[in-house]
Amino acid sequence: MPVWHLRDYHEDDLDQAIQIWDQSRGADEDRVFPVSEVMAAAKSGQSAVVAVVGDELVGMAVAQSYARRGWILLVALASRWRERGIGSALVAELERRLRAAGVRHISALLPAHAAGTKALANSGYQSRDDLTYYEKLEPPGTADADVLAALGGRMLPEGLWDAMAGMEREKQVIERRVVLPLTEPVLADRYGVVPPKAVMLFGPPGTGKTSFAKAVASRLGWPFVELFPSRLAADTGEGLAAALREVFAELAELDSVVLFIDEVEEIAAVRSGKAVDPGHGVTNELLKLIPVFREHDARLLACATNSVRSLDPAFLRPGRFDYVIPIGPPDPTARSAIWARYLRAAATDAVDLARLVEASKLFTPADIEYAARKGAQAAFEREVTRRQGGPATTDDYLTAIADTRPTLTARAIEEFTEDIDKHSRL
Ligand SMILES: Nc1ncnc2c1ncn2[C@@H]1O[C@H](COP(=O)(O)OP(=O)(O)OP(=O)(O)O)[C@@H](O)[C@H]1O
Ligand SMILES: [Mg+2]
Repeated sequence: MPVWHLRDYHEDDLDQAIQIWDQSRGADEDRVFPVSEVMAAAKSGQSAVVAVVGDELVGMAVAQSYARRGWILLVALASRWRERGIGSALVAELERRLRAAGVRHISALLPAHAAGTKALANSGYQSRDDLTYYEKLEPPGTADADVLAALGGRMLPEGLWDAMAGMEREKQVIERRVVLPLTEPVLADRYGVVPPKAVMLFGPPGTGKTSFAKAVASRLGWPFVELFPSRLAADTGEGLAAALREVFAELAELDSVVLFIDEVEEIAAVRSGKAVDPGHGVTNELLKLIPVFREHDARLLACATNSVRSLDPAFLRPGRFDYVIPIGPPDPTARSAIWARYLRAAATDAVDLARLVEASKLFTPADIEYAARKGAQAAFEREVTRRQGGPATTDDYLTAIADTRPTLTARAIEEFTEDIDKHSRL
């Protein structure tokens, strides 16, 4: 009577299984089926048998099958338990299971002197020396790279988060609600915090919604894919809905992604209820696609809109968007930080920041960026045309401010405040 017996592989066996796998491979042996693949097959209910002595795992065999074909992926034996017929018994048990599953043709690929070769020879397997094994290893991430390129996506540089000046309120909300649960999943789970899958950013033009979405992707180290409804909408109605479906299907192939949809009101505006409304089908399509998108880990949908009030209320429901975050006009502190970011290094000390901040009251970050560039340009032109050197002065920037039409109006700020009351969810 053998002291060992066979049983099904359990997930608890994993640690011991890997030890045996290590013991039964040659020092420089490179397996055809890597351990991750074998264990994945064992876990997924493919044929996997182990030999045990008491609590100790001494052998393991794993196969994978489809239709009438079975592949033996692994026959491994603990070194002390070789030459006792365990290998042959494992193979026989695997075969029994494969046959029961309809398999009629069993193959195995093993390195020449691997532990399992003897068991296979003893079990009647013919080795074939007329075959050559070919393989092509794609560099890691290649499949992703292809999908990403097809979607027009890319990896963003590090540091975009830190480049966001001022906007402390927005930064804090986004960091705590969105970034940290995704970068600290274990901790989040321990505290019962569910990481977000979709967020809506709303606010007036140029306040930094797109920049925040990119900054989040940069911090997560996830690829960034931007969807332009206006470009998808080269054709409308059914065409656009189908295009959306296709993009979402391709996204499912990526390991991780931040999907950004700007001007989302273009595709998710209030449904008019008219059967012929061409936007209607698209809104419905997006409503259907978001729950599926939410099922996958490591993905975040970030939508942005200047007009949150025109969005379909069904679209904003908590089950679809975890947070609806206002990205507001910069307050004086934020304006000061943004000015400082855009002033030429040489100008920082010479310029009266407080006056610029005061003069740029209804400016968005985008307006400040524009005015700062204009001020620097004036100083540059003075140097080139009149050789009157020196960096841009406070007056250069004040002139630039006077020449810049602010994006914000009192009315826009009022509306934004109403929107915060009515729509924001943090
Ligand atoms: N906090 C910030 N610090 C520095 N620059 C910023 C900041 N926020 C935005 N900007 C700059 O302002 C410009 C506009 O920002 P962005 O495109 O992100 O705004 P937006 O809210 O997406 O605008 P829109 O509604 O028009 O799409 C960008 O060039 C960006 O670099
Ligand atoms: Mg934008």
